[in-house]
Amino acid sequence: MKIAIASDHGGFELKQELIRHYADLGIILQDLGTYNTDSCDYPDAAKKMAETILNRQAELGILICGTGIGISIAANRYHGIRAALLYDDFTAEMAKKHNNANVIVFGGRTMQVSDVVRRIGIFMQTEFEGGRHNRRIEKIEEGK
Ligand code: RB5
Repeated sequence: MKIAIASDHGGFELKQELIRHYADLGIILQDLGTYNTDSCDYPDAAKKMAETILNRQAELGILICGTGIGISIAANRYHGIRAALLYDDFTAEMAKKHNNANVIVFGGRTMQVSDVVRRIGIFMQTEFEGGRHNRRIEKIEEGK
C-alpha cells in the first residue's frame, strides 16, 4: 500500500520520527513535506495531501500539525477526503471500521510517537464494515 505523509512545522518532528521508524521496517512513506522546522501553513500540507489521495498517487495519507485539529479541518474541505484525528486506540479502530478514513491525522505537540505507531497499526489491521456505513459516507459526499 502506498502511504503519503505531510505536516506543518508543528508536526515536522513527529513526521520525521515516523518516516525513520517505518524505513527501519522497510516501509517507505512518501514525504510531501514540510522539509524543515520553518513556520508554514497547515492548509498547504492538507492541500498537497488531498491532491495526492484524490489523484490516487497514494492510498492512505498521514497528516500532522501541532494538535491535528487545523490540518483535519483543512483536509476535510476536499470532497472525497475523509480525515480522522486518531486521538486514542478506540478511535483508530473506528476511523477504519465505520468511517473508512483515507487520511489519518495526529498531533505533533500532543501525542507520543509510540502511541501514534500503535494507532496506525490498529487502523491498518481493521477492516471497513461497509453496509450502513457506506450509505453514511455517500451522504457526506452528497453534502446531505
Ligand atoms: C502551528 O503553530 C499550529 O497552529 C498548527 O500546527 C496546528 O496545531 C493548528 O491546528
